[in-house]
Amino acid sequence: MNDGLTLPSLAVIGAGKMGETLISALLASGVVESTAITATAWHATRRRDLEQRLGITTGDDNTRAAAGADLILLAVKPQVAPLVLREIGPHLRPDQLLVSIVAGLETPGIEHHLAAEVPVVRAMPNTPSRVGAGMTAVCGGRYAEERHLELARQVFSRIGRSLVLDEKHFNAVTGLSASGPAFIYIVIEAMAEGGVKMGLPRRVATELAAQTCLGAGRMVVETGDHPALLKDEVTTPAGCTIDGILKLEEGGLRVTLIKAIVEAGRRAGGLVDGD
Ligand SMILES: NC(=O)c1ccc[n+]([C@@H]2O[C@H](COP(=O)([O-])OP(=O)(O)OC[C@H]3O[C@@H](n4cnc5c(N)ncnc54)[C@H](OP(=O)(O)O)[C@@H]3O)[C@@H](O)[C@H]2O)c1
Repeated sequence: MNDGLTLPSLAVIGAGKMGETLISALLASGVVESTAITATAWHATRRRDLEQRLGITTGDDNTRAAAGADLILLAVKPQVAPLVLREIGPHLRPDQLLVSIVAGLETPGIEHHLAAEVPVVRAMPNTPSRVGAGMTAVCGGRYAEERHLELARQVFSRIGRSLVLDEKHFNAVTGLSASGPAFIYIVIEAMAEGGVKMGLPRRVATELAAQTCLGAGRMVVETGDHPALLKDEVTTPAGCTIDGILKLEEGGLRVTLIKAIVEAGRRAGGLVDGD
């Protein structure tokens, strides 16, 4: 996909799993040239590996990488982020855009380290981004304009769906779409166990369960219908599905999932140490 988005240069500070996912997607969609990407990582082996596989430039100098790029993606772990921001913050300029995917790190906490009025966008992607089925929310800091938010949203649309949302909702986003895949893996595993209990080979049961979750998700997103309506379509009066639903309600699946998301979202506020 290339809807006209082009990035003259990109620096990825902390090119781990998520950083690499984005680099690969942007390269694949022709948004940026490999020669225009610089990535940093802690270990030399990791940097060599990225160079060999992606044909990009790597280094261990975060400040240098950041200073030479139009778009800077901060993708280090939350514990390392304050340290890296102290390093690069004084050197960033208002004509650049800093996009952070660091979980729990709010835009004022980022801006605190910047000497200039640099536009900052905070993004929260999730792991299905690795297969192009991610969900990313983006919000802007004090100096981010609509065009910065739109640019960031388009970047993340290369790894799935993306939307702009007020930062006050970011803990909820973290609990729902960032932690959510883990909850759904458990649902898939449990559904597969149900199939195994009924005599299905495990591999078949897992495929049926996973594709069923994928299909149900696509139905909600692509039809725009309320999930309750779609559920009613499957549920024949006096049929087998309603008996299954009764068991789900008895086991408290709904309330358990609600509590899981609220708890994960609450925890999201406290991920970054100190400043
Ligand atoms: N994974 C997700 O689903 C997800 C979702 C939403 C948000 N996030 C956020 O994305 C960020 C990255 O997550 P990840 O899963 O991609 O982590 P990761 O794979 O551990 O990547 C972190 C990268 O940072 C590098 N690094 C460590 N210290 C550094 C330093 N001082 N300077 C430059 N680079 C340094 C590491 O280098 P080495 O490889 O050499 O160790 C590694 O490549 C986290 O803040 C996380 O909260 C992740």
